[in-house]
Amino acid sequence: MINPLRGMKDLTFDESQRFVHIVTTAIGIAKKYGYEYIETPILEETALFKRSVGNSSDIVSKEMYQFEDKGGNDVCMRPEGTAGVVRAFVHAKLDRQPLKQKFYYYGPMFRYERPQKGRLREFHQFGCESFGEASVYEDFTIITMILQIFEALGIGFDLQINSLGCTTCMPPYKQNLVGFLTEIKEELCEDCNRRIESNPIRVLDCKNKTCQSLLVTAPKLIDDLCEECGADFKKLTALLENAGITYKIDTNLVRGLDYYNKTAFEFVSNDIGSQSAIAGGGRYDKLVEFLDGKPTPAVGFAIGIERIMELVQMPEIQKEGIYMGAMTPEAVETLFPLATQKRKEAKVTLEYNSKGFKSHMKGADKVNARYAVLIGEDELANGTVWVKDLESKEEKTIALDAF
Ligand code: HAM
Repeated sequence: MINPLRGMKDLTFDESQRFVHIVTTAIGIAKKYGYEYIETPILEETALFKRSVGNSSDIVSKEMYQFEDKGGNDVCMRPEGTAGVVRAFVHAKLDRQPLKQKFYYYGPMFRYERPQKGRLREFHQFGCESFGEASVYEDFTIITMILQIFEALGIGFDLQINSLGCTTCMPPYKQNLVGFLTEIKEELCEDCNRRIESNPIRVLDCKNKTCQSLLVTAPKLIDDLCEECGADFKKLTALLENAGITYKIDTNLVRGLDYYNKTAFEFVSNDIGSQSAIAGGGRYDKLVEFLDGKPTPAVGFAIGIERIMELVQMPEIQKEGIYMGAMTPEAVETLFPLATQKRKEAKVTLEYNSKGFKSHMKGADKVNARYAVLIGEDELANGTVWVKDLESKEEKTIALDAF
């Protein structure tokens, strides 16, 4: 037997139903906010992710499904969706249009991480990207939209927010932070030491307990934001408070991808173990430019579908459609055209083998049909069908051509 690869899984019956429910719920809400569907390739040039997610990020430096294709191109299975959407946005010259553009997508992402509960090598995201809107109202609106999705799915969460500043306030902060980190260098873990040089703000995100305790007194960017970033962050917190949305400011929330500026946020759940982030996102006002487009402010998020799968409250399954069965072999022939015709308007399950009454009723129950439609010898002779409404339990015999 050939098994799926480590960290990859099949989504069968229960999970695939949950998957579809999550995606259709999210799409319904995203459309209300003006988002349109975008589909981008799973395989992209490796340079795209190096330039956007960042060379020094864990995703790019350790976790890429990267290989040379038969034409000698350095390619990569997308580890996330934003970079591809931005590339597509620039490629279609949408950056040159004055319109605001909003896209949603869903699909598989690939990260060669150490698999564990909630951490897969192939996982699925539902994401949204909004281009052309610099106002912090858009950051708030995106957060509201995620909230609405989680509410519709019956999922509880904590919201954590932070500001990563901009090109005015981040560089002096970084310098300040590097000064602080250099002083405690000896006591920090190996990973942190590497990051002091390559990506100092990622040190704040270190999961090592000793490092965390040493970082309590680290300088915080939200204390040193420039006027504009400070005002935006204040406005965002005011909007959240006015809307009655509970949030926590986490000054160590830096995100694992390098393209963010200003607002960064994560939704976490306490009910799924250590891999608790169920959605993440933020603003990335420089990424379109980094990928050779015209300066375009942007903000977005992605939800990890597998992470919320167990948390979703599924709607009660309603009895639906028609089960058709014959009790004599000849009657099967009569049922075939009837099933084809009915499928134009309803879900139809047709049993090809003639069976006894009880066996058919069990079959109807198994597929959760609303109606059982059977033809036995009498019905065949009289040109009728026997119909039972399995909800009201009402039974009747009706003419074939009236069915
Ligand atoms: P991210 O935080 O890297 O952000 O991923 C978003 C979500 O994907 C996470 O919160 C988590 O639920 C899920 N996820 C990440 N890695 C795994 C994994 N190995 N196994 C299972 N689930 C996982 C992004 O990807 C950004 N592109 C989000 C964004 C969109 N920012 C702006 N626009």
